[in-house]
Amino acid sequence: MPSTGTLYGVGVGPGDPGLITLKAVDILKRVDVVFAASSTKNHYSLAMNIASRVVSKHIPVLFLKFPMTRDRERLKKAWDSNAKEILEHIRKGKDVAYITLGDPMTYSTFGYIMQAIQRLDPSVPVSIVPGITSYHAAAAASRHIIAEAEESFTVVSGALGAEQLRRIIHHTDNVVMLKVYRNYKEILDEINRLGLTRCTKLISRCGLEDEHIVYNLDNCRDKMPPYLSLLLIKKKGLKEEDET
Ligand SMILES: C[S@@+](CC[C@H](N)C(=O)[O-])C[C@H]1O[C@@H](n2cnc3c(N)ncnc32)[C@H](O)[C@@H]1O
Repeated sequence: MPSTGTLYGVGVGPGDPGLITLKAVDILKRVDVVFAASSTKNHYSLAMNIASRVVSKHIPVLFLKFPMTRDRERLKKAWDSNAKEILEHIRKGKDVAYITLGDPMTYSTFGYIMQAIQRLDPSVPVSIVPGITSYHAAAAASRHIIAEAEESFTVVSGALGAEQLRRIIHHTDNVVMLKVYRNYKEILDEINRLGLTRCTKLISRCGLEDEHIVYNLDNCRDKMPPYLSLLLIKKKGLKEEDET
């Protein structure tokens, strides 16, 4: 066994196991250890649930705890200690896969873990397998064209409320908004104020058994959606409706 293993960042897609790539399957069948982020309360990992069909039975799966907080100090401590744990395996010559929901380079803990490992040991080989993002799967499920011809599209986070939406809405043709659940009401009020309610779709738990798509947000103003929810906004939809 070589002295240093490889760190693989593997995207497993947003929910439907059929959306795991062949390359991800290949890696998940041959690495020595699989790591998955889990809540601090239990060992539940949706990424692992999705990948469980393809990870070989004899490969150990280790869960890493990440606190659900915005406290940078606490988060940094968790990234560093989890990075050290992964690095111990890599230094023993083991190939490890860190699996993430959707794509590893899009709003994923993998980014922090990769950077922490590279700070600790810049010589560690890193290989990344892209995953189908939540919003690409949601666009397919709702038959929503993300962008066409000369249009632009902007991906923003709603974790801090409607601020990012206000910042970009007049500079883009289409918006994808992730992490909308916590500030859903504020975000929806802003969408309404901008006159975009009828051009917005809400997709929750895409690809999972209880997937839910709302095409008319007027019907869904007061109920907070689940954590796995996103919004797809198409400004052109507004123009077309205004013209008719
Ligand atoms: C930490 S981000 C992970 C993004 C992921 N890496 C990706 O490529 O899509 C979590 C957010 O992604 C979105 N998300 C992830 N999976 C989803 C799903 N199956 N259905 C709807 N939204 C999802 C939600 O907006 C959620 O709050």
